[in-house]
Amino acid sequence: MSFPATGYPQLDVLLPRLEAIAALDAKGLQGERIAVLGRKQGALTFALRSLPTFTPDERKRFGALANRLKEAFEAAFAAREAELAGSTDVPAAGGGLDLSMPGRGRWIGALHPVTRVIDEIVAIFRELGFVVAVGPEAETEWLNFGALNFPPDHPAMDMHDTLYLTEGGNRILLRTHTSPVQIRVMQAGPPPYRVVIPGMVYRNDPWDASHAPAFAQIEGLAIDEGIGFVDLKATLTHFARRFFAPDTKVRFRPSYFPFTEPSAELDVECQICHGSGCPACKHTGWMELLGCGMVHPKVLEHCGVDAERYTGWAFGLGPGRTAQQRFDIPDIRLEYGGDMRLLRQLAGQEPL
Ligand code: PHE
Repeated sequence: MSFPATGYPQLDVLLPRLEAIAALDAKGLQGERIAVLGRKQGALTFALRSLPTFTPDERKRFGALANRLKEAFEAAFAAREAELAGSTDVPAAGGGLDLSMPGRGRWIGALHPVTRVIDEIVAIFRELGFVVAVGPEAETEWLNFGALNFPPDHPAMDMHDTLYLTEGGNRILLRTHTSPVQIRVMQAGPPPYRVVIPGMVYRNDPWDASHAPAFAQIEGLAIDEGIGFVDLKATLTHFARRFFAPDTKVRFRPSYFPFTEPSAELDVECQICHGSGCPACKHTGWMELLGCGMVHPKVLEHCGVDAERYTGWAFGLGPGRTAQQRFDIPDIRLEYGGDMRLLRQLAGQEPL
């Protein structure tokens, strides 16, 4: 906005500032409004202080010009304000583009915490001579249950409710654990077997802080001549101490799975309170890490493996829970909910 020269230097010095308003940003606009029109320190207010030094006629002329200039300033401020309010945050190229602004951080991506835990577990077992095997998420009822020695309608299946994808005899279902891949591995060739099996599994579980209806598991299977429970204990203890810390306390608790006998659950000392008891471990000092046991001879027989000659053990672990402990993630839904903020935090791009 321009304004004709008034002939009064006190007013004319302000004219370049009037023209400059059109280029101000929101912050500059606010400051300039006070600097020009401010009731105490404003430049125009200051110019008006010279009013008493004029003759009455001149006073009228000067006063009128000063008023018009004030109106011009007000109009210019209002116009610029409206313009800024209407513009988007992204400056149009050329127009408001400020090449001196710092660059925006680029999202470089990160591995999901559950993937990181699976990779670490696989790496530890790889050192021990295990290889990775995978199987389908849509699995047969027989491999998910029958071959694993679940008697029909056994209560152990209550915890394995899932979606059935077909009807009829050997129905197809969304697998409830990675254990059917044990069978697939054993049916594919002769022993010995040393495999770890990562994959997604599905259960009619609630969607709450510690459950998800679709979650990851990692299975382990070791079958050879002369493998006993001591091998299970030694290997899984070694694994827990490699994964957590060398002095981590572990304990095996008796448990039940139809496909292992004897069965156990492996607990590790709570990584948060180190055994003294805290809300994360429900004040027990222990965290459940995995289920395990000696593979049931019936399972070996279902796979055509000579159970007199070969023995071995298996385990199943939920890396989502393990990742919660490793990365201090309070709610499993953060992991399986696909929330990118979690990945950004773990990638170090946002504070944890
Ligand atoms: N499949 C079992 C489960 O999902 C875990 C498990 C695997 C237990 C292997 C023992 C041996 O609960």
